[in-house]
Amino acid sequence: MKVLLIGANGTIGSAVHKELEMRHEVVTAGRNGAELLVDITSPDSIKEMYVKIGKVDAVICAAGATFFGTLTELTPEKNELSIQSKLKGQVNLVLLGHEYVNNNGSFTLTTGIIMEDPIVGGVSAAMVGGAIKAFVESVAFELPRGIRINNISPTVLAESIEKYGPYFPGFEPVSAYRVAKAYQKSVEGGQTGKTYRVY
Ligand SMILES: NC(=O)c1ccc[n+]([C@@H]2O[C@H](COP(=O)([O-])OP(=O)(O)OC[C@H]3O[C@@H](n4cnc5c(N)ncnc54)[C@H](OP(=O)(O)O)[C@@H]3O)[C@@H](O)[C@H]2O)c1
Repeated sequence: MKVLLIGANGTIGSAVHKELEMRHEVVTAGRNGAELLVDITSPDSIKEMYVKIGKVDAVICAAGATFFGTLTELTPEKNELSIQSKLKGQVNLVLLGHEYVNNNGSFTLTTGIIMEDPIVGGVSAAMVGGAIKAFVESVAFELPRGIRINNISPTVLAESIEKYGPYFPGFEPVSAYRVAKAYQKSVEGGQTGKTYRVY
């Protein structure tokens, strides 16, 4: 399959790349150091990416920034980061991209455990994760030509403990390898509208 992987240089993206490149042609995308440069907060940038790559069998998004901070620190402006990047960025990849996905292809988006198991400081990220989950469930039966869509909801990764560990007291980390296997299931399997929880 020809797989477009957005966020390919990230913690999750690089593990997904490693898992999929053994069997598929993976084209990497991101703001820096990728084969295709894209900023998912810009619809024009997303359109340019799709025009450049043309038809694909699978689109994976492992990119999307969110604001982490307590409710009293959260402002409408800070919340916009999560909305523009993780929410609208991923939604627009589907809205602008489904015509570029071959029959029976797939989209795989990224959410996260905190949409269902809240943490202090996670309001904004949980909000957009929940929205993506609802989007995936609704879109699944409207996508044409057998195109599937799922979202991967990991808990904190062992590889990200230094960065996010203090936000996740009592959460057992998982390996990037385990998370990457869920992306593999979404791309190579037959399910649609699902949330793959990697806890
Ligand atoms: N790591 C965890 O423990 C964990 C757990 C649960 C859920 N998640 C979710 O998984 C996703 C990825 O997390 P991660 O830890 O792998 O992040 P990461 O290491 O920061 O990697 C993010 C990747 O996305 C790219 N990116 C960021 N903003 C972008 C944009 N606007 N347009 C295009 N590319 C962009 C980055 O590259 P450039 O900067 O070069 O563009 C980078 O390659 C996030 O949605 C995160 O909330 C992560």
